[in-house]
Amino acid sequence: MSSTMKAIRIEKPGDVSVIKYLDIPKPQIEKNKILVKNKFVGLNFLETYFRTGLFKASMPLVLGHEGAGIVEEVGSDVTGFEVGSRVVYLSSHNAYAEYILVDPVNAAIVPEQMALDTASASLLQGLTAVTFVKRAYNVKKGDIVLVHAAAGGTGQLLVQLCKHYGATVIGTTSNEEKAKLATDAGADHIIYYTREDVPTRVKEITNGQMVNAVFDGVGKSTFQASFDSLRRCGTLVSFGNASGVIPKVESSVLSEKEIALVSPGVFNYVRTREEFTEACSTLFDLVESGSLKVNICKEFDLKDAADAHRFIEAGKTTGKILLRV
Ligand SMILES: NC(=O)c1ccc[n+]([C@@H]2O[C@H](COP(=O)([O-])OP(=O)(O)OC[C@H]3O[C@@H](n4cnc5c(N)ncnc54)[C@H](OP(=O)(O)O)[C@@H]3O)[C@@H](O)[C@H]2O)c1
Repeated sequence: MSSTMKAIRIEKPGDVSVIKYLDIPKPQIEKNKILVKNKFVGLNFLETYFRTGLFKASMPLVLGHEGAGIVEEVGSDVTGFEVGSRVVYLSSHNAYAEYILVDPVNAAIVPEQMALDTASASLLQGLTAVTFVKRAYNVKKGDIVLVHAAAGGTGQLLVQLCKHYGATVIGTTSNEEKAKLATDAGADHIIYYTREDVPTRVKEITNGQMVNAVFDGVGKSTFQASFDSLRRCGTLVSFGNASGVIPKVESSVLSEKEIALVSPGVFNYVRTREEFTEACSTLFDLVESGSLKVNICKEFDLKDAADAHRFIEAGKTTGKILLRV
């Protein structure tokens, strides 16, 4: 068996030109890990932050935070996984590769009836949506929430779950095609945030009430509008930087309207085996029951990861991007 594998690695932060497809040593099994042969790797905006250097990591770096595949070897101290098990996992890095050594704390067996690509496409963004709508802000029946980039990968899942828990959802998108996707996901109202003033439209739509919560993964370009769209005691869930990093916020600004500013990271919500298993179970139940539809927007071959980064950074996503391994 070969001792090397194909992987996508960067030697230094930069534009997409730093992304290299090359042969590197195949990881060796460790007693408390499982070795997974990847079939699909999920692509996330997060990897672009590490690629550009916005988020720091030691170099060289094999990018990638999640995938789905087949267990090839099981460490001697690991229980609950067998050679041949179909699994999904989260990882701090290293997923853009043929093989990955996975901590079983953040791995789960894929339900028998679920296709591996669906499971892969649902994982990181799905866990994000599942945990954020309960733990970052507890979405309740009767709430009015604003979800930015409502046709994006995470956005479509957030819209569906906010509807599932009984909220009225206002989604923002940049164009009509995306507006249709957000509406299909359940958004009750659409705001074209690139050409309409968001707080003004929110005021009209809510008859002046404004929203209980905003889920904002767009960041810099939407931050002020998110803030101004909230009612008194509202919650701003600021969870991403797709358009750039949000400005520094003085606490006095928050206290003017008693705004709660939450900046959650999905990895923090699923840090223990119990948290991960429970969140996966909720996610898979929602997907299997049809309450949560996962939309695979585009697949690229692993070797074309640079094209996938170009695609996501151009804002072209209308669902999940997968790398085929
Ligand atoms: N904190 C966490 O744990 C966590 C977990 C998952 C995701 N996230 C964050 O959630 C956000 C969405 O991630 P995702 O993977 O779901 O991405 P995605 O599907 O690619 O969604 C990104 C969307 O953002 C919109 N956008 C607005 N300004 C943009 C810009 N300057 N460049 C690119 N896109 C822009 C685009 O929609 P329009 O064309 O409609 O504007 C685009 O489709 C990211 O900020 C990501 O970091 C955070």
